[in-house]
Amino acid sequence: LASIEVDVSSLTPGMSLTAKWRGKPVFIRNRTDQEVEEANAVALADLKDPVARNANIAPDAQATDIDRSAGEGKENWIVMIGSCTHLGCVPLGQAGDFGGWFCPCHGSHYDTAGRIRKGPAPENLAVPTFSFVSDTVIKIG
Ligand code: FES
Repeated sequence: LASIEVDVSSLTPGMSLTAKWRGKPVFIRNRTDQEVEEANAVALADLKDPVARNANIAPDAQATDIDRSAGEGKENWIVMIGSCTHLGCVPLGQAGDFGGWFCPCHGSHYDTAGRIRKGPAPENLAVPTFSFVSDTVIKIG
């Protein structure tokens, strides 16, 4: 399937689901305000990968929290390919030293914006092309 639509109406803040798109897991998380604040508190200079890696915006956009998220008005939402940028294992949610995702294969820690912070992975988790087609449905692809 080129694109899928995912009903996210059941996701209250702090909840996530994993969809499957083009054979890969896609993490959709309705982040808590605290998770967004934590990500916003990080200086860009402290990021291992300063690029947003968000297919919906300019390829050279910086990895600010807003540019990793679903954008203005939807900044609590984050949508990412659930494939570690090291060697492709599926990271675990709400885990690791930065409260985001943790890849147990070789120990990569991602923050609450899915940005690589520690470990061998070279890049932030990729944000695929997606959009909200309504307040409760996300189209991926
Ligand atoms: Fe994730 Fe190696 S595949 S750390």
